Amino acid sequence: MSESSKRRIAIGADHAGYELKKYIAKKLREEGYECVDYGTHSKEDCDYPDVSFNVALSVSKGECDFGILICGTGIGSSIVANKVPGVRCSLCWNEYTAEMARAHNDANVLALGARVVGEELAWNIVKAWLKTPFSNEERHRRRLQKIKLIERMQQTQLEGKGELGAVEGEQFEH
Ligand code: RB5
Repeated sequence: MSESSKRRIAIGADHAGYELKKYIAKKLREEGYECVDYGTHSKEDCDYPDVSFNVALSVSKGECDFGILICGTGIGSSIVANKVPGVRCSLCWNEYTAEMARAHNDANVLALGARVVGEELAWNIVKAWLKTPFSNEERHRRRLQKIKLIERMQQTQLEGKGELGAVEGEQFEH
């Protein structure tokens, strides 16, 4: 699937990210993206793991192409999302980190800190992140394979030796 056809975005925030989520979702819809809103739906205090988990799960299951998570710093949301197999959540704070997250890490979830970036910068980050394709360079594919290997080792309780060694060829689907 080409980047331009990835138009279904899961979005979620806690109370700290609620206002920025509304703003980003509106901008995305204006640009023709489909936004699946996983809440929260008010400024009432809530727990970021609840929302982050649901957004991450929707990307992990392929129900949405990408996810966007917003909390106060973006840190809690990204920690949660990165516990979900298949999710590579990138906490970005400028356009450069957004571009690198996609080009080098093939990130599929973006985390933003509503108390760190303002509306305009946040939207510029989202645009940069969405428009940047994965570079598909061999060294980046190899590193992503190692991340997948770590996930598998954790899931199957295989004993890790603290060193991943060489990963030959395309052992795991990208
Ligand atoms: C909520 O006060 C805040 O802790 C949360 O939004 C987030 O920043 C956590 O990482």
